Amino acid sequence: MINNKIAEKTYWVGKVDDRKVPFHRLILEKGTTYNSYLLDTEKPTIIDTVDIMYGGEFVKNLQQIIDLDKIYYVVINHVEPDHAGALPALLNKAKNATIVTTEKGREFLNGMFKLHSRNYFIIKDGDSLDIGGKTLKFFETPYLHTEETMITYCVEDKILYPCDIFSTHIANYELFDDLAKEDITEDFTVYYKLIMGPHRSYVRDMLDKVKDLDIQMIAPSHGFILRSDVNKYIKIYDELSKINSDAKDKQALILFSSMTGNTGKIAKDLADGFKNLGITTDIFNVKNANIEDIKKAALEANAILIGSSTKYGDMIGNLEEVLKELVTLDLSNKLGSAFGSFGWSGEAVEIINDYIKESKMTLVDTSYVVKATGANDIKLPLKVNYYDNEETKDMAINAAMAIGELILTK
Ligand code: FEO
Repeated sequence: MINNKIAEKTYWVGKVDDRKVPFHRLILEKGTTYNSYLLDTEKPTIIDTVDIMYGGEFVKNLQQIIDLDKIYYVVINHVEPDHAGALPALLNKAKNATIVTTEKGREFLNGMFKLHSRNYFIIKDGDSLDIGGKTLKFFETPYLHTEETMITYCVEDKILYPCDIFSTHIANYELFDDLAKEDITEDFTVYYKLIMGPHRSYVRDMLDKVKDLDIQMIAPSHGFILRSDVNKYIKIYDELSKINSDAKDKQALILFSSMTGNTGKIAKDLADGFKNLGITTDIFNVKNANIEDIKKAALEANAILIGSSTKYGDMIGNLEEVLKELVTLDLSNKLGSAFGSFGWSGEAVEIINDYIKESKMTLVDTSYVVKATGANDIKLPLKVNYYDNEETKDMAINAAMAIGELILTK
């Protein structure tokens, strides 16, 4: 076992996985590591564990270096099984340990591992915890890359433990980036694009939270610990998460047919979502629009969103005539999604979906977004009863931003 000291009374206690690792429907050709850390203070604390398949080995190795009855806290920054998977095995021996996580983290852990009877310390953004000789500070970082995620900062050591954030998928025994056999910048960037890229706005929020921290070392949960030039890696996240200049070359088209104005409001809010990302957006109320203008815009667009109110179980106005024209075009390289407000039933959205499929566009729905990005808070198609409050407005803006991110990363 590697038992590497990374700071005073702080040790890497993770697992190197040098297989070709199946991961998010990809194969990690260079393998990965599951980095776990022991802060051997007066209240010994583990930060994250390892993949569920290595739980037994993880616990056995830890027993060689610490009496597990003495483990006081186990910080779970992220509940995915590559980091929280060994928690049940650990807690089976670490009988006195309190789990430190977010409220959502507790919900997930209880759901997956039935840990209802264990003690929890639930953190809120900016909370601190004295672990006897060191102080941990916590920040909530939702959707980086799942809902419950948080990061941990050790004040005295100036080490950030951000779990998946700032990670790299490379199996290695060198531990630190300055000891790596090759420049890891490209792997670091690829990881960002794969895991963090779809969550741009949350990356910006996270960077804002850490900007005033004095960070001398970043100890993530995959790949190398970053100590050679921490700011270089933070800057890469900053640059990649900015609205890039390519955005203006991407186009979204929003078509709608509205009975009382609510579907028109959704269309406008969707447009605002795209504009937040700097994506050029055309919006047409089909009632007043020229079909040739619509067809031209459709051919130029990267994503086409089509909305209608529902009346008598159908779309309204002349939208169907427009859709019949659109399916004659080659739209096969575009993303398509339906939306609409409804009063008592919302069949129009389903009918639009059929046209999107017939057009050979890629139908973007909640399932597609979950599989592409891991984000499970996006509701698509956007079928909304009445559509008249801030919550539904946010739903539309966020949905457009999710589709926008798909365009930008395509
Ligand atoms: Fe490395 Fe989201 O797990």
